[in-house]
Amino acid sequence: MSSETFRWVVVGVGTADLADPERLRSLAGLIRSRSREGLRPLVVLPAIPGMAEHLWEVFGGGRSKFRTAAGGVNLHAMSHSVADPHRRLAILLGLPVPEAESLIAPDLTDLAKTSVTAVLGRHPGARAQVMSFAERLLTRIAAAFFNSEGIPAAWQDACALVRAPKGGGSRPRIWEPLPAEGLARRLEALPRVVVTQAGIAGGPDGKPVRIEPGGSEISASYLAAWLRAERCEIWGDTPGLFTGDLALLPSARLLRAAGYDEAQEILATGGPGPHPRVIPPLRHHRIPLHFGWLRHPAGPGTVVSSAGPVTGPQVKAVAVRTGITLISMETLGMWQEVGFLAGVFARFSEHGLSIDSVSTSETNVTVSLDPTANALNEKVLGALLRDLEKLCEPRVIAPTAALSLVGRGIRGILHELSPVLEVFEEMKVHLVTQAANDLNLTFVVDEDQSDRLVKQLHSLLFGNQTENAVFGPTWAGMFEDEEIEAAAEPEGDWWRARRDELLALAAERGPVYVYDEETLDRAADSVRSLGVFDRVFYSVKANAHAGVLARLEAAGLGFECVSAPELEHVASVFPGIEPARLLFTPNFAPAAEYHRAYELGAWVTIDSLHPLRAWPDVFRGREILVRVDPGRGRGHHAHVRTAGAQSKFGVDPENLGELRELAAGLGARVVGLHAHSGSGIRNSRSWREVALFLAEEAERFPDVRVIDVGGGLGVPEQPGQGPLDLEELGESLRLFRAANPRFELWIEPGRFLVAQAGVLLARVVQVKRKGGMTYVGVETGMNSLIRPALYGAYHPIVNLSRLGEPATMLAHVVGPICETGDILGRSRRLAPAQEGDVLLIANGGAYGRVMSSRYNLREPAGEAMLPSA
Ligand code: LLP
Repeated sequence: MSSETFRWVVVGVGTADLADPERLRSLAGLIRSRSREGLRPLVVLPAIPGMAEHLWEVFGGGRSKFRTAAGGVNLHAMSHSVADPHRRLAILLGLPVPEAESLIAPDLTDLAKTSVTAVLGRHPGARAQVMSFAERLLTRIAAAFFNSEGIPAAWQDACALVRAPKGGGSRPRIWEPLPAEGLARRLEALPRVVVTQAGIAGGPDGKPVRIEPGGSEISASYLAAWLRAERCEIWGDTPGLFTGDLALLPSARLLRAAGYDEAQEILATGGPGPHPRVIPPLRHHRIPLHFGWLRHPAGPGTVVSSAGPVTGPQVKAVAVRTGITLISMETLGMWQEVGFLAGVFARFSEHGLSIDSVSTSETNVTVSLDPTANALNEKVLGALLRDLEKLCEPRVIAPTAALSLVGRGIRGILHELSPVLEVFEEMKVHLVTQAANDLNLTFVVDEDQSDRLVKQLHSLLFGNQTENAVFGPTWAGMFEDEEIEAAAEPEGDWWRARRDELLALAAERGPVYVYDEETLDRAADSVRSLGVFDRVFYSVKANAHAGVLARLEAAGLGFECVSAPELEHVASVFPGIEPARLLFTPNFAPAAEYHRAYELGAWVTIDSLHPLRAWPDVFRGREILVRVDPGRGRGHHAHVRTAGAQSKFGVDPENLGELRELAAGLGARVVGLHAHSGSGIRNSRSWREVALFLAEEAERFPDVRVIDVGGGLGVPEQPGQGPLDLEELGESLRLFRAANPRFELWIEPGRFLVAQAGVLLARVVQVKRKGGMTYVGVETGMNSLIRPALYGAYHPIVNLSRLGEPATMLAHVVGPICETGDILGRSRRLAPAQEGDVLLIANGGAYGRVMSSRYNLREPAGEAMLPSA
């Protein structure tokens, strides 16, 4: 082995936006410093995010953008989607254009050839071969970039370094890759730094196959083990393992140190991070695993090793797995019958189902099936149930979620967990298991309860945790440091530049929402200037302040209203408004409201058959739009996902035939179809999916000329979230329009137009220390802004009076309302707050004041417009 002569470090990248040149620049810096330590870096990189989806389109059939009408491969489209992002990256990294082209062009030609044979031949392995070009393109550019930075680097094809075991197939579920023979010798002969693709191995014919699941990090882990590396590093867009899910819990704390066993358990029970399979190869050879954050390479990260700080039994994380199906089996005769359990388990294995956990009693056996390990569909379940019925009375409980408390020695601290366990009071717990390895305690509950429970459990377990050798800063705290750094430069958020005016307003008005005209104008312009919408309706529910409406009216937008009072409000603010700029989209409204909407001349949307059946006179001879359930809800929280079988919105597509007959009977014409999947969506393709769905349904309605894709455009809410890619949204809908010229395209955003234009200002009234925590109390709370309490929403908070001072205070920011949930921000870092300081709660322009109340008879914050400077 090489270890005597060379000390290797494997530098892998997990999930990170490698299309951003800054990420590769950070990596170059890291590699230099590893070389200075006397280590030889082996750099293992995945693809640019989203490339795999582009490449999937090769197999997308007739609708694929990569297929020509004749069924061939559209090379031009492929070059645009696949090669252009790499060209752009190479140029941003400063590579000369001819050099970039000489790297990309041959791969593109190869990709085209591979795609043609793949599409024609559909041979096994074709997909993996096409998809592998994503990693190939990126790693070759990275190697060239490192060389251009004076780092001697060689690209090595992963197919030659890692082998797929025989019989693994092209997409094996789980297999352990093998090193190519003479791996160490081969690498030693190369320049100092070696760059290769993550997640790829060479198949028996030398062609690429994918390492699944968990490909990217698995490559790094195995390569480190085979080379007996000094350590394995995995860099990504978070700094490592946390006490909970970052999307749900901005207050989750970084784990600075974890044992191999704990890390593996956290990952296996659904904690955020790579696939748990990364751990065993490293554990076997006692190779430390360092996680790090590409945004802040010098900042703290997680170290997984056997040498961490010695701690007693302790819960380290709350992990969740959703989408779990339980099968409960009732039987009276279970213990009398020899082999009952064996018989039951045999049935599961006959259907290829692997059981995750089991609980038994005298009369019941309940097992859980994890969706990541099982291809569960109705057919398989149906067949299983029919078989089980011969042995017992089976029942399916789904969807459920498994919540696990993870940490070493849990059994020893059960008595300390009693306040935590009280959270489950009044809650149906379907299954409780305590792992034999004493590393987790798991509760299975209904899935729609899981977000709420996880937040409660996390807050009970870690709410008062302070930083120490094991627990690092909170995820949100890591960004607030940045916020303070950004305070030095006035170009950031609009409110930094207008601090003095805001402080004066807060002094004069007390708690107040302030809206910035310029930010409103810019947001309206960004949607309109996409040029793909015939009409943009502002969704009034997000913010109904007359000054806000006036800016959006001036920008030419229409108004989407969900109630007659909203319609009346708009009509009174703009007395002569053209009726076609009003759209009525209610849910469970009474007849009189539809009647009034027609009187005002608004477009009217129905979302059930009831209005046509029960109130024919309202609709006779009228034009209507129909809200259809697109079947799949999306959005930032379960409460705001407004589609799917479980939601109260929209007409089930199955009932559209009947609706058509009812409308025809009344001489009413269905002129538009509408769908709204949810709110706070940041996946730019969502609206195209909705448009395609509606266009298909519209085939049954000859009069339909309008497709309304709803609202829901998200803004970054939590630390680390990027913005919605508006350009891509526009582009995807431009394609839709080109293919469907028959329709006008409408959209109805609320949040996107107003969220960032508004801030909430509130003065500090008291500061207190209790139970090791500091509480900063402000003059208004959930009565003004309920989103943190209702959705666990995150709003950035700064001490506006002390903007620019170091954020050395760690505190919960709370309001004066008589509920524990009256918290505006948990574990926030602030410049030390004192009575009278003004705190600014950002991102408050949408669903702030409109959702406020007089709870405790405290008036909510007022509202003010900040005119253009
Ligand atoms: N269209 C319809 C039919 C809607 O129901 C909604 C929002 C919108 C458009 C506008 O959605 P937006 O673009 O604002 O996401 N209170 C929650 C949001 C609830 C949204 C309800 N419907 C929050 O604070 O996040």
